[in-house]
Amino acid sequence: MISARQLRLAILPTLTSVLLYMAPLQAAEFPGYEVAPERRTTGIGKFYMGREISFVMGHQAAGWLNRPGRIQEEMPDEVVENMGLDPDHVVADIGAGSGYFSFRIAKLVPQGKVLAVDIQQEMLDIIEERKAADGVTNIEGVMGEVDDPNLPPNSIDAAIMVDAYHEFDHPFEMIDGINNALRVGGRIFLLEYRGEDDSVPIRPLHKMTEEQVVKEMGVFGLEWTDTLDFLPWQHMMVFTKVREN
Ligand SMILES: C[S@@+](CC[C@H](N)C(=O)[O-])C[C@H]1O[C@@H](n2cnc3c(N)ncnc32)[C@H](O)[C@@H]1O
Repeated sequence: MISARQLRLAILPTLTSVLLYMAPLQAAEFPGYEVAPERRTTGIGKFYMGREISFVMGHQAAGWLNRPGRIQEEMPDEVVENMGLDPDHVVADIGAGSGYFSFRIAKLVPQGKVLAVDIQQEMLDIIEERKAADGVTNIEGVMGEVDDPNLPPNSIDAAIMVDAYHEFDHPFEMIDGINNALRVGGRIFLLEYRGEDDSVPIRPLHKMTEEQVVKEMGVFGLEWTDTLDFLPWQHMMVFTKVREN
């Protein structure tokens, strides 16, 4: 006959393990947004985890995204090579703009596809025009919403955001949506200008520090797998979805 105490001691560790195992299944906790009356130049006056969100770059500036100097400044071909993609991967380019990265990624996934997500129809139109001109068939434009990338659950192997995340005005909801769309083992590539480097000639709200990015991705239990430091001005940070939501 075992005592009540012995029974408790026998059950507790099992119960604790079960609860610990279940913890990641709980939804990410929303840290909240703050609104300040004074906004900084190029900011929207809305803060997330201590960071002021920047305004969205309008489609009128799409030409600037294709400026020739970007090849040296942002080394786009080296970026996509370093994603380690398989030919059948499905990759979401979130905040795709004119498709500067989407078209490069599409070449690396001939049996897969790129989902080019943006909230500006004009950007998706630019991508459609170039698809037709270049005969590219494995890019699909997706009209996103400010708080939803509109991607089906468990549908993508990777997501990339280049110079875009800092201007998402609902970053929590966006990463939640991307996280849900990722398959387990899938990766998020987040590229932002280095906020801790004063020599990078970009306005402060259009940069992010590595520490801030890790803090914001950590809310979702995403594992910080790597930071590739080969780029002149940006971090190429890699996060992995290590378990089901
Ligand atoms: C500075 S551009 C960068 C475009 C592209 N990634 C590149 O590197 O050339 C940022 C893009 O993010 C888009 N964007 C902003 N908020 C978004 C959101 N919540 N969801 C999807 N796209 C968004 C903007 O419309 C804009 O086209």
